[in-house]
Amino acid sequence: MSYRVQIQPAGIEFLVQANETILEAALKHGIDFPHRCRQGVCTSCVCRLRSGEVRYNAPEPLSDIDKAQNFTYGCLAYPLTDLVLHHPFIRA
Ligand code: FES
Repeated sequence: MSYRVQIQPAGIEFLVQANETILEAALKHGIDFPHRCRQGVCTSCVCRLRSGEVRYNAPEPLSDIDKAQNFTYGCLAYPLTDLVLHHPFIRA
């Protein structure tokens, strides 16, 4: 099972398998997706979720502020649906 992920505003699209993180899939597709720690600490991979649903392995990394802002950690999030994400520094 795979899901289509679109990154705005660049308009990049790629497929993410259900068992891989958004970051893993982006790097596999050659996308210059910002990241450093891959552990939910540095926040360089954080996108805004515009539509769709993701899941995290426990413990969920999101604070109440993250949830209120629809922040999504690309390095830890697995898609549950097709997604539209926003990250201002990802370029086509
Ligand atoms: S790569 Fe550091 S929080 Fe995701």
